[in-house]
Amino acid sequence: MQILVTGGAGYIGSHTCVELIKCGMDVVIVDNFSNSKPVVCDRLELITGKRPKLYTGDVRDSELMDKVFAENEISAVIHFAGLKAVGESVEKPLLYYSCNLDSTFSLLAAMKKAGVGKLIFSSSASVYSDEDESPYSEESMTGCTNPYSRTKLMIEYILKDMYISDPSWQFVILRYFNPIGAHKSGLIGEDPQGIPNNLLPYVAQVAVGRRAFLGVFGNDYDTPDGTGVRDYIHVCDLARGHVLALQKMDGFEGVETINLGTGRGSSVLDVVKAFEKACGKPVPYEIKPRRAGDKAVCYCNPDKAKKLLGFETEYDLDDMCRDTWNWQSRNPEGYGD
Ligand code: NAD
Ligand code: UFG
Repeated sequence: MQILVTGGAGYIGSHTCVELIKCGMDVVIVDNFSNSKPVVCDRLELITGKRPKLYTGDVRDSELMDKVFAENEISAVIHFAGLKAVGESVEKPLLYYSCNLDSTFSLLAAMKKAGVGKLIFSSSASVYSDEDESPYSEESMTGCTNPYSRTKLMIEYILKDMYISDPSWQFVILRYFNPIGAHKSGLIGEDPQGIPNNLLPYVAQVAVGRRAFLGVFGNDYDTPDGTGVRDYIHVCDLARGHVLALQKMDGFEGVETINLGTGRGSSVLDVVKAFEKACGKPVPYEIKPRRAGDKAVCYCNPDKAKKLLGFETEYDLDDMCRDTWNWQSRNPEGYGD
């Protein structure tokens, strides 16, 4: 079975390619390398013994997408390609609307032409409204505070409208909580460009000596230690969730929206402590003001993933920090140039 993975060279996409290949599927990647490196394909081959077929280009390029479907026997698509930095989306909304929406439009058009109806879409916990509370279930109120999250919620609505117009489409929307960690081999992992926006890559870069200290954004939240609480999920667990969704989606009726998280919350200081244990050295930090737009607490109700996919996470926070450190210490500069 051939699976098209858009954005397959990225952080979550690359880990999902490993799981797909492990399960005997053939992977075709389309990636424009705007936030990843071609060397990822070499690493995927080292890990799995199989090299994914690669098309270098933009998912917005309709001719390219038609060619990909014409040259392969694609059965289903996992659509990771998109931009994901919340702060940048506030500064460059058009870039985000164009990249995330237009890529989905051209992908859907190419799928329709090729008669391929199965799509798994990467959505985000950031679509849940601040007016509702954790644990977020799929029924919780949605509401977005930035262009990035709005693109995710808009695409969710677009997919639901497409299904209403033609029920032969099969869509699964996966709302990820906070993916961290790396493949056990230490060959693939998260490699943000520039200064990391997210907690784990920042902590890892402090531990490896690339940054002096971590800024902890607020210690006056209404949480056990005052710092923000999130639902961190190992990227390999998350990747496995995609394979399960692919395997089970034939039995779904309509568009299913499913949370992928552990259902457990950890604070920023819990993460710092777990990371110190993993790397065997202190991770210096300073308390800074709250970051605009952050929720105090965000974790999921994982029941639907368990019920529909049989999905349960295997890894805990210590495992996630161990594997992040394994990746970062073996690749201090990420994938490098
Ligand atoms: P990533 O940036 O590592 O991967 C995205 C990949 O898509 C990159 O390889 C990039 O080069 C490629 N890409 C971007 N725009 C493209 C385009 N127009 N055409 C072709 N390729 C393109 O991000 P990730 O962390 O792996 O996230 C994957 C998906 O999951 C994204 O849609 C993201 O919004 C979503 N998501 C991520 C998180 C997270 O915390 N990492 C949380 C929730 C949802
Ligand atoms: N934090 C710090 N210092 C840092 C970075 C983060 O204290 O340098 C804190 C944040 O304030 C927050 C927690 O660490 O309390 C997690 O922050 P991240 O930036 O790692 O993650 P977010 O939950 O803010 O957002 C991430 C992605 C979103 C995605 C969301 C849910 O950035 O795109 O998870 O999946 F939508």
